[in-house]
Amino acid sequence: MEFVMRPIGVIHSPFTEKAQTPIQAARSQAMGQVEVFPEYLEGLQDVDGLSHIFLLYVFHCSEGYNLKVQPFLDDHLRGLFSTRYPCRPNPIGLSVVRLVARRDHVLDIEGVDVLDGTPLLDIKPYMPDFDEHPVTRTGWYETRSKD
Ligand SMILES: C[S@@+](CC[C@H](N)C(=O)[O-])C[C@H]1O[C@@H](n2cnc3c(N)ncnc32)[C@H](O)[C@@H]1O
Repeated sequence: MEFVMRPIGVIHSPFTEKAQTPIQAARSQAMGQVEVFPEYLEGLQDVDGLSHIFLLYVFHCSEGYNLKVQPFLDDHLRGLFSTRYPCRPNPIGLSVVRLVARRDHVLDIEGVDVLDGTPLLDIKPYMPDFDEHPVTRTGWYETRSKD
């Protein structure tokens, strides 16, 4: 099976180099903008009421992948799917960002961790009732070598 997806918008950020891009949204205070293409404007109704949103996007500047990778915060090789490494068979990224304001088809966001021009696939609400869990294990992250 193959799926064709088309971007619904583009994420603007201050970052043009991977090495200077924060490794996680929760570790970033950088401001950015989500530009939603005009044909999807109606879908932004009620987004104003959200303080946090999920952004799903394509790591459009990643090439290829390995199934064992060294995470940004560790010195050991780990299974790709236990990490957030950007080079993946389907290079899809996921960030929870704070929605600061909506200006028509543009969302001002805080906590951006992607390159400028990253193609946006979807926006979903971050809902504590659905998305917060009493986590008991975080695997390699608990014994990681970097912070
Ligand atoms: C570790 S990933 C985590 C991203 C997201 N929070 C996630 O969990 O999917 C973040 C890193 O991906 C890289 N990156 C960001 N945007 C990218 C893009 N559009 N294409 C390729 N790599 C990108 C940068 O090196 C950045 O530090």
